[in-house]
Amino acid sequence: MGVSFEQARRDRPAPEIAPLPTAGSKGMSLQFEIQPATNPTSEKERAARLVDPGFGRIFTDHMAVVRYNQAKGWHGARVESRANFPLDPAAAVLHYAQEIFEGLKAYKRDDGGVNLFRPDANARRFWNSAERMAMAPLPEPVFIEAVEQLVRIDRAWMPGGEGSLYLRPFMIASEVFLGVKPSAEYIFAVIASPVGSYFKGGPAPVSIWVSENYTRAAIGGTGAVKCGGNYAASLRAQAEAIDHGCDQVVFLDAVERRYIEELGGMNVFFAFDDGSLLTPPLGTILPGITRDSIIALAKDSGTRVREEAYTIDQWRADAASGKLKEAFACGTAAVISPIGKVCSASGDFLVSGGAAGPVAMGLRKKLVDIQYGRAADPHNWIRKVQ
Ligand SMILES: Cc1ncc(COP(=O)(O)O)c(C=O)c1O
Repeated sequence: MGVSFEQARRDRPAPEIAPLPTAGSKGMSLQFEIQPATNPTSEKERAARLVDPGFGRIFTDHMAVVRYNQAKGWHGARVESRANFPLDPAAAVLHYAQEIFEGLKAYKRDDGGVNLFRPDANARRFWNSAERMAMAPLPEPVFIEAVEQLVRIDRAWMPGGEGSLYLRPFMIASEVFLGVKPSAEYIFAVIASPVGSYFKGGPAPVSIWVSENYTRAAIGGTGAVKCGGNYAASLRAQAEAIDHGCDQVVFLDAVERRYIEELGGMNVFFAFDDGSLLTPPLGTILPGITRDSIIALAKDSGTRVREEAYTIDQWRADAASGKLKEAFACGTAAVISPIGKVCSASGDFLVSGGAAGPVAMGLRKKLVDIQYGRAADPHNWIRKVQ
C-alpha cells in the first residue's frame, strides 16, 4: 500500500545538520569599507541602458563583498567596483556546488526615495539555506547592510515607473580543496540589476506544463532552500515545458507524484468559488516571501487561506466543475502571474477561461502598491533606504 505524502513527511523528517561554527552571533554586524568605482558608467550610457533593461542582463557599477574563513570569521566587508572574482580551478563551489542565493528588489517611491521589501525575510531564508548546505551562515545585519550599501551607491541605476533594482545576494564556497566536505572559506556578494516591468502591458496569463518525468525536491532534500543546484536540476523539466509550448513547469511531489508543489521559480495559489484561497504547504517547496505576503494580505481582508495539499487530478476536476475560479503563481520577479492553461501528457485544461482573474489582479495591486510606497504598510514590510 502507498504511503501518503503527509505521512511520509511525518515519518521521515529532514535530518538535522550539525551547525557550522559561525563568526559571531546571528546579530553580528560589520563596518563596510566603501571604494567607489574609478571608472563608472557615464550618465549618458546608463540612461541608454535603462531605456529597456529587460531582466537580469544589465548590471550596476558596484558590488558588495564579504569574506569568511575559519580564523577570521566574516571579515573584509567592502563595496567596490563590480569585477570578476579570481577563482582557483579547485574552488569547492566549482566541484561540489556549495552555492546559495537570494532575490529581492528595491523600488523607487514617487517622492524619489527607495524602498526595500522585507529584506529581513530574505536574510533569514539565506541563513537557513546556508545551514542546510553546511555553509557559514551570514548574520542578518551584515546581509541587510550589504544590500543597503549597494543600493545607496548605485541608486542612480534605479529605473522609474514599474521598474525596480533587482538585488542578487549570493554565497559561494571558495576553499581550494578537492574533497567532499563543507568548505572552510566562503565569499558572500551582492550584485544589482535594473529591471523593467516583468510584463509589458499588465500581467499576461501563463501556460504551465505538469512535469511527470522529473521532480524538484524530495523530503529531506534541499527543496526548501535556495541553492543553485535546485535550479540546475529544474532546467531539463523547464525545457520540456518549452518543448510543449508552455511558459513554465509545475512540479509534483516526489513520493506520490500527484500533489502540486510549485513552479520552477514561483509558488502557486488556487482561488475557489467560496472565496477561499489554497496554497501547497511548506516542507519541500521554497518558502516564498511573496507567498507569505499574499497569505497575510488575504487574511487581512477576511479571506480564508488554507495551506493544504492539492492534487493535479483535483485541480483538473475543480477547473471543469467551476469550483476553481483562478490559479496564479507568485514570486519576487513577476509578483503574481495568472495561470491560464495547464498542459500535461494526459491532456490540457483552461483556468478562468485562460484569462487573468480579479483575485490575482487585486492581490497583485495591493502588494505592488505597498512595495512602491503608494499604500499603507500595516505589517511593517518596507525598509526605507536612507
Ligand atoms: C523555486 C522558487 N519558488 C518560489 C519562489 C518565490 O519566492 P519569493 O516570493 O521569495 O521570491 C522562488 C523565487 O525566488 C523560487 O525560486
